[in-house]
Amino acid sequence: MKLRGDDELERSAIVANCRMNRERELAGSNGYSREIGLDPLDFLRARIPPGRLPAWLDLCCGTGRALIQAARACQAEGMDIEIVGVDLVGMFHRLDPDLKHLRLVEASLRTWHPDRQFDLITCIHGLHYVGDKLVLIARAASWLVEDGLFVANLDLENLKLVDGMAGGRKVVVELRRAGMEYDRRRRLLTCRGRKDVSLPYRYLGADDEAGPNYTGQPAVDSYYQPELGAEPRPR
Ligand SMILES: C[S@@+](CC[C@H](N)C(=O)[O-])C[C@H]1O[C@@H](n2cnc3c(N)ncnc32)[C@H](O)[C@@H]1O
Repeated sequence: MKLRGDDELERSAIVANCRMNRERELAGSNGYSREIGLDPLDFLRARIPPGRLPAWLDLCCGTGRALIQAARACQAEGMDIEIVGVDLVGMFHRLDPDLKHLRLVEASLRTWHPDRQFDLITCIHGLHYVGDKLVLIARAASWLVEDGLFVANLDLENLKLVDGMAGGRKVVVELRRAGMEYDRRRRLLTCRGRKDVSLPYRYLGADDEAGPNYTGQPAVDSYYQPELGAEPRPR
């Protein structure tokens, strides 16, 4: 099997696939709240800090539909929240010109980095298509404010070790060691509070022909080489 490098992966039909669901809403049966078991606006409402705008970063935001709905709701409530969405494919819905504090950025999360820290970072069914998933997880954890929250859908089946062996179970041990939580049933990764995470795996490349994961959609397997002497220790 030939592993794809980053540029090739980002051009691949699986990642640039126009049929994937980029249209989730903020709430409801096709909504962000359902996917992560948390209402982003309730979370942010509960923590408006004095002297600064609370901020929400959505990685792999698709068309930005949920973020636009959130920005409209904030505007209607008179609540100021900075919302930033980033996606490789700039198929964003048009923004109402009067919407404040909402930015949708067309960029690869491989290279993009923010100019501030965030109270909430979400990645709803985005990691399935990212090459180096572990590096993005570590970077997102470092972009949180001290007591911020990062939540992402993650299928362990999409993490492979160099020999093609399933790597997910080993990686979860390291993620937990780094202070994150992984809910196997909901396939949900959670990081509470900003963390500097260094995971002992070297990224090798991605397989975009891995086939469907638990979502039923074709996803990308990410391959890693455990770093020497970094086999998970018994807990
Ligand atoms: C299944 S869609 C989910 C979109 C949105 N979160 C939603 O639930 O409606 C996955 C998104 O990940 C984006 N994506 C994949 N690789 C990316 C990368 N390296 N950087 C930024 N976005 C990426 C795709 O363009 C796509 O819009």
